[in-house]
Parts: sequence; C-alpha cells; structure tokens
Amino acid sequence: NVLILDFGSQYTQLIARRVRELNIFCEIKPYNALPADLSQYKAVILSGSPFSVRSEDAPHPDLSQIRGHKPILAVCYGAQYIAHFSGGNVAPSNTREYGRAKLAHIAPDPFFKGVPENTQVWMSHSDTIKTLPAHAELLASTHDVANAAFKIQEEDIYGIQFHPEVYHTKEGKRILENFLVTIAGLEQTWTPDAFAETTVAELREKIGNDKVILGLSGGVDSTVAAVLLHQAIGKHLHCIFVNNGLLRKNEFQEVLDQYEHMGLNVKGVDASKLFLDALKGEADPEKKRKIIGRIFIDVFDDEAHKVEDAKWLGQGTIYPDVIESVSATGGPSATIKSHHNVGGLPDYMKLKVVEPLKMLFKDEVRRVGASLGIPDERLGRHPFPGPGLAIRILGDITPEKVEILQEVDHVFIKGLVDWGLYDQIWQAGAILLPVQSVGVMGDERTYEKCVALRAVESTDGMTADWVHLPYEFMQKISNDIINKVPGVNRVVYDISSKPPATIEWE
Ligand code: XMP
Repeated sequence: NVLILDFGSQYTQLIARRVRELNIFCEIKPYNALPADLSQYKAVILSGSPFSVRSEDAPHPDLSQIRGHKPILAVCYGAQYIAHFSGGNVAPSNTREYGRAKLAHIAPDPFFKGVPENTQVWMSHSDTIKTLPAHAELLASTHDVANAAFKIQEEDIYGIQFHPEVYHTKEGKRILENFLVTIAGLEQTWTPDAFAETTVAELREKIGNDKVILGLSGGVDSTVAAVLLHQAIGKHLHCIFVNNGLLRKNEFQEVLDQYEHMGLNVKGVDASKLFLDALKGEADPEKKRKIIGRIFIDVFDDEAHKVEDAKWLGQGTIYPDVIESVSATGGPSATIKSHHNVGGLPDYMKLKVVEPLKMLFKDEVRRVGASLGIPDERLGRHPFPGPGLAIRILGDITPEKVEILQEVDHVFIKGLVDWGLYDQIWQAGAILLPVQSVGVMGDERTYEKCVALRAVESTDGMTADWVHLPYEFMQKISNDIINKVPGVNRVVYDISSKPPATIEWE
C-alpha cells in the first residue's frame, strides 16, 4: 500500500489513478491528517500544492515518522518542501515554468531506468529550487530548471519538480513504476479480480449473519456494490429499487428484470404517483430536487422498516466522494445544484453503513463489475441523475410531459445505440423545453413543443464538451422524433460546453 500525502494539488487524484493503473493500491490522506499507524505503507508520495513553501500558511506537516523510514517520492511542492527544510534554497523563479519541458542530463539511476534523454515532462510551478540541500544529489535538469530531479540517498528520497502523473509527461508512468517497484519494492498485485475476492471475504467477515438494506438505482455504482454484497451474504442482502416515475421509458421493469436475473434479492417499489403528485405545480429546479429527495427518503424508509432486524445500510459511495469530503484544501464551495443523493439519510434510520466501493475510482468500479460478470450494458450505462427526467422537464411537471419526454429520450438513445455512437458518449439525454413553436405538418398549422438533445463527452462530469454528432444522424433522429412523438414539432441540439453551461439544464 502506498500513502499519498495531499498538499492540495489539483493533480493529487491523478497520482492515485496512475499508481492504481500500475496495479498497486494507494490511499490519499490530507497532509494535516497523517495516519497514526503508518506500518501498512511501504512508500509515500508527497503531492504538489497551490502554496509556496515560503508562505506562512503553507502546509508544514511533521514527516519525522516517514523520513528515513520509508522511500519518499516528492513531487513539485513536495520536492520544494523537502529541499526547503533540508537546507536548500527555494525562491520565486524568474521565468515562467508552466507546460512542457525537456528533461536532460539524466543520471544513470534506477529511478530513471529506461527514460531517454530529452524526454518531455510537464511543469507547473512558480517557485523553484535554487540550491539543493548539501547531501542531495542532482539527477536531472531542464533548460529552465537546473534542479529538476534530485535524490537524498541516505533517506531514500526522490524529489522531482515536474509532474509524473499527467499524461503530457511521456515517461511519467515508467518513473512511478521505477520508484514504486524497483526502489520501494512494491508488488503489482492489486487487480479487479483480487479486489473482488478480498472484498467479498471482508464483507462476509464484517457482516456475518446480519441483514443489509441497499437502494438500487440502476446505475453502475449501486449495482456493483449490490453484487459484491450479494456474493458475500446472499439473501441477507435486501435491495430496494424505487420507481419515482421519472425514469427512462421501460427502465423500471427492464432493470428490475435484469437484477432478478442476476440473482439479487430485490424489491421493486412503484411510487410514481406519490412523486408526481408531490411535484404537481412546482417549477423551481431546487424545490423539485428537494421534493424528490424527501419522498425518496420516505418511500425508502417505509420499505426498509419492512425488513425486520436489518443492521446495515449498503451504499455505492466511491472514492472521489470520500476524498472530496476530507480534502485538505477543499473548503465549502458554492452550491450550484443540490444533488439530492449527497447529504446522507435521515438519522432515524439507525443503521451502520457499509460501503464496499469506498476506495475505488469510477473506472475501477467498472472493471470490478466486469470481473464480477455484470453485463456490459449495465456497466457502460450513461450516468443518469437521481431526480431523473424532473430536471429535464423545464418548469412544472405533468404525467403527459413525462410521457412525451420518455418517448423522445427513447428514440434518441436507441438511435445512438443503433448508430454505434452510445459508447463514445459520456452522457446523453433529451430536454423538454417550456416553449411552443409554429410548424406545419401536412396542410395543418401546428403549435407544439420543442425538445433539445444533449450529448457530452467528459471524464468526471466536472467539465464537459458537446459531442460532434454526425449530421446524418441528427437529420434522421430529428425526423424520427417529430414523426413518432405526438406533441413535438421541433428539435434543437445543445452546443454549450461546461463551463459555462452545466450538463443538465436545471
Ligand atoms: P451538471 O448539470 O451539474 O451535472 O453539469 C453533472 C453531473 O451530475 C448529474 N446531476 C445529478 N445527479 N442528482 C444526481 O444524482 C442531481 O440532482 C443531479 N444534477 C445533476 C448530471 O446528470 C451529470 O452527470
């Protein structure tokens, strides 16, 4: 296991992903929450930071339990931190040091084994190490950065000014591998299969004969969490799948069938009417979300009480959610949208929480899912928001509007699948606009609804860009929608990126 000490760099998660890609397990901890017991860690990586080591409020953790005890890779701020507090000199740099650079004068050290002279590396810093600590040894330089890499032999510390974790550092993965495997002696045994196997065993041990309740959504995370728990405790896992009446066309029945087919002990609860009644007349996006969140909790709680003697609540929380909530520098950020599924369940459900995916990134969840034999169509499914079509029907919601949007969405998504486009897209859907416009069908004047189509590429939903769908596809799909869905006479395509737009319209 590797410990990544986070000084607040925007790239810290990326370091973790690269380490995991090498099939080595790692954990991120904020610099100010160093675990008391470090025995499980065989190596430590110090991340970058937006701070300058010279500033008063710069992170300044006590590394005495680590230095000299474990191999350390210090990246960017991490390297400056080591240099600064070991007798070196860190100062603002005269030239800007952002973006690509060529690494030269590379020393013949195991750390750089297989890394060619002049390989491209990525820099992003405004301070620079002017002089190295007396006992440090220079390992490489770039044109602008004399001390681009160094080592402190007796403490097994490697410091690098560039970022090995970013894609633009060509040999970044090799450098991480050299450090972790050759120097720190870690084994590359952390695979999806191994994860599934040990997790199932751990869950079995932890839960014993207790009953667990879990809310399924049809999404990747809750499905994989359910299958892991199911393999551990079988019928003691009670899954609840709620139809809020705002799902995609046929989704409730199809997904329920699929869950049953997978052997899960699942109860489908059709609460559509409750949700739609409660939403009646409400046009404000945040209020719609709150109503849906509230009704969901009521319905779920009712169902949960029917499972006698349940002790645990299973959840599909994944690693980015966990890191977000403990991030060293992540202060409270503005609420753009109140995602109702973040924020926890009411405390009257006095259950212990079990989160089998808590240490995984999204792509790892998918790979674990595949190794558990979950069908590709479930694992490759686009993200779908908890409030469902409610936030894609702009303005107030009626059962008729839901039906129109379900039909439009169905034609669009099926079209993407049929044209082989679905898997190239991160998320797609249709939006029903509160707009009517004039059209002509046959000899008749029409005055009907307008729908927008949205398809975006993204890696995490934080930023996104619209997809350049082929014109032939758009032509065909627009025709199909208007011909097949009564009440719609106009289709438009959303060409806004995020930021400044968001993916959903509400
Ligand atoms: P935005 O619209 O904020 O969406 O760019 C980013 C991602 O989050 C999803 N989303 C939600 N998911 N409850 C959810 O569970 C919500 O209220 C919600 N709002 C947005 C959105 O579908 C996209 O994947």
